[in-house]
Amino acid sequence: MTLKTEGYPKTWYPVAASSDLKRGQHQAVRAFGADWVLFRGISGEVGFLRRHCPHMGADLVQGGVCENGIECPLHGWRFSRMGTCDHIPSLKKSLPHIETESLPCHESFGVIFVFWGESPEYELPILPHLEGDLICSHVYKIELDTEFHTPCLNTFDLQHFERIHDR
Ligand code: FES
Repeated sequence: MTLKTEGYPKTWYPVAASSDLKRGQHQAVRAFGADWVLFRGISGEVGFLRRHCPHMGADLVQGGVCENGIECPLHGWRFSRMGTCDHIPSLKKSLPHIETESLPCHESFGVIFVFWGESPEYELPILPHLEGDLICSHVYKIELDTEFHTPCLNTFDLQHFERIHDR
């Protein structure tokens, strides 16, 4: 499915703490000016789909996780992590050409990231020698209407405050 990605830079964005989403759980997320559902299938992998069903618009957050996808509460259509329709109960089959928007997901450092785009244009930077507790000992949430790198740079790049902002 073609995703319109105007308005936000194509990059990785943190959307939830890993610890907030156990296997079989899902939650609503507001991001990129739209509503989404984030879920973790029984395999442990996460998915990030548009919140409203492409069939008749029911709220997938009112549905539930089924195996590694999510099931719409209204007619029971099931959608995979890729956004394809895996099962339609009334037809007893899948119709994979029916899709809802999905974003690629990646989990590192105790954080679930999604890439704003159909497929990642680059891997999330990994520092193997700093994996695990060394790189992120505490995850906290703050909602900002901006792309990911601006607040990061303004947290760590302390030298620019004096030079640019005269502080
Ligand atoms: S509205 Fe979702 S399956 Fe019908």
